[in-house]
Amino acid sequence: MKIWISDLKDHVGQAIELKGWAYHHRSSGKIKFLVLRDGTGYCQCVFVKAQIEEAIFNNFDQITQESSVAVTGVVRAEPRSPGGFELTAASFQILQRAENFPISPKEHGPDFLMNNRHLWIRSKLQHAVLRVRAEIIAAVRDFFDGRGFTLTDAPIFTPSACEGTSTLFKTKYFDETAFLSQSGQLYMEATAAAFGKVYCFGPTFRAEKSKTRRHLIEFWMVEPEVAFNDLWDNMELAEQFVEYIVQRTITNRAEELKALGRNIEPMLKVKAPFPRVHYDEAAMMIKKENPDFLIGDDFGAPDETIISSKFDRPVFVHHYPSAVKAFYMKQDEKDPTKCLSCDLLAPEGYGEIIGGGQREESLENLLTRIKEHNLNTADFEWFLDLRRYGSFPHAGFGLGIERTVAWVCGIQHVRETIPFPRLYGRNYP
Ligand code: 4AD
Ligand code: MG
Repeated sequence: MKIWISDLKDHVGQAIELKGWAYHHRSSGKIKFLVLRDGTGYCQCVFVKAQIEEAIFNNFDQITQESSVAVTGVVRAEPRSPGGFELTAASFQILQRAENFPISPKEHGPDFLMNNRHLWIRSKLQHAVLRVRAEIIAAVRDFFDGRGFTLTDAPIFTPSACEGTSTLFKTKYFDETAFLSQSGQLYMEATAAAFGKVYCFGPTFRAEKSKTRRHLIEFWMVEPEVAFNDLWDNMELAEQFVEYIVQRTITNRAEELKALGRNIEPMLKVKAPFPRVHYDEAAMMIKKENPDFLIGDDFGAPDETIISSKFDRPVFVHHYPSAVKAFYMKQDEKDPTKCLSCDLLAPEGYGEIIGGGQREESLENLLTRIKEHNLNTADFEWFLDLRRYGSFPHAGFGLGIERTVAWVCGIQHVRETIPFPRLYGRNYP
């Protein structure tokens, strides 16, 4: 009977078959070891010369790294073994013998590994990161589905810019021009008026001509939007959400995080409420350590690190200058140079993982903003309708999955947090 390694616990003492790939193998005279991986786990298969047919035993050395192999044997509990079980092998068959698998245990440069991403994802650490990603995504969906939100996914082909024209991907849409979505937000504002509490979750695109460890060209974003929420309600929702996904992931993916060497201590502190800092206060903190910082500017990555280093959990910065934020942000009535925006900065130098805020609900103000941002009013007529027909206060945010995965895993670069990253200068494999 063929079983998955993750199910070995139910088959102790039974004769079974495993199918997978040769992760590691070694011989020591009368005994040979094969660590097989099948994607659900790793299992050491032990071949003892005295117990199996000689021809089979002698054929063991034909096994190469990443050959596909089927092994039969009896399952044994082995507390010292990584998965807790071993197979006392009776026989094996090489399904396809892999020759010269390009990724060996020696060090490879990032370019080489990225060119071989389709093979690199088989390695233990990449496998662990992508399992953490899958858990975070499951947690994202459960959080919103469990709180009465309706999933209303946004289109990918769009007629207009949501997050500024400088990072738009232009493409043809038959005889017209279309842009790949930078954010589903504008559509969520429409569905919020139909369903109250909504979210979308999908790929978004930014033509960012820069190579940093935080930027992808194609990244996944979850974007909730809630009718009648204000800026403060929005931050409350965001902190409960982040606490939920982090705490669930460190519990459910403890083994993977351990393999990644992630220190869990700082993650245990990711509990609401998170500190809230006004932009003016944040700007003063930065100015003290970075005298070149100009008050009124957006924060660079090192500036965000200055702020986050002052706290032991994620921190909100709110009321950014309107000039550095998107057109849809509602202005602060007390200080119209500021807007009702909030970013969430992750600890340990991981920077902004959430951007959001309260939306401008006045038709007149929104028209002014669209003109100030040199956007084309005609493209936004449908969006303006939301202010014509029962306008309502509302707020929402977007969380970038890859930056969140990088932070939770404690890894440096977002390129390892998505199965097949699209980067500036890389669209392969
Ligand atoms: O701050 P951003 O641009 O906000 C929006 O797009 C809003 N429309 C969201 C909303 O309110 N519904 O992006 C939100 C998040 C960032 O905080 C970051 O985590 C991620 O998306 N992000 C990126 N992640 C990887 N690569 C990039 N190039 C990213 N740009 C943004
Ligand atoms: Mg942002």
